[in-house]
Amino acid sequence: MAGISPISATHFFFLSFLLSSVVALAIAEDEPSFARTVERKRLGLRKEKLSHFRLYWHDVLSGKYPTSIQIVPPVSNTSMTGFGLVNMIDNPLTETPDPKSKLWGRAQGLYASASQDKFGLLMAMNFAFVSGKYNGSSLTIFGRNPFMEKVREMPVIGGSGLFRFARGYAEASTKKVDFKTGDAVVEYNIYVLHY
Ligand SMILES: *[C@@H]1O[C@H](CO)[C@@H](O)[C@H](O)[C@H]1NC(C)=O
Ligand SMILES: *[C@@H]1O[C@H](CO)[C@@H](O)[C@H](O)[C@H]1NC(C)=O
Repeated sequence: MAGISPISATHFFFLSFLLSSVVALAIAEDEPSFARTVERKRLGLRKEKLSHFRLYWHDVLSGKYPTSIQIVPPVSNTSMTGFGLVNMIDNPLTETPDPKSKLWGRAQGLYASASQDKFGLLMAMNFAFVSGKYNGSSLTIFGRNPFMEKVREMPVIGGSGLFRFARGYAEASTKKVDFKTGDAVVEYNIYVLHY
């Protein structure tokens, strides 16, 4: 042991620096040609902001022009929850609970009864904006909707246009139900982080 000269601190740091450079180089070489990192600014991504939207969702099952249509019936007549049913929707999203108020967008997608012993829907919808600043942009909501509860929370999992990289959540609360027709008006409060 006595014959080996101790490695000085400078030497040690130099060696470890060299080693980490070699490792970094090896990682860089491993990066495939189809992938690269991009500066956020190049995609116009500056400051992330938090927005709140309040819209009224109209599930119209009745009348001459329903916007919510059952495309798959429940799996059996014995299911209390209508398990298995699927409705395709193109529901208006308006400014107030009045269906004749300003149309800001349409909720396009579907909902399905996904619960066997309690009422619970699987919601898969794009909120496609059709007017104003957000016209042409969309938000994607995908989540569980136990619609008998007062407030239901569903994740916002993404978006397009002004909502690229969007994430957040929506809170749905039913404002009006016509028990004869099944038509309903639901308030959606959406909190979303986007650029
Ligand atoms: C459900 O009920 C309808 C009408 O009562 C009947 O025609 C149909 O066969 C039933 N379906 C099943 C799966 O029991
Ligand atoms: C929304 O955008 C579409 C497509 O660009 C356009 O045709 C339409 O007039 C716009 N609507 C409003 C209300 O601005």
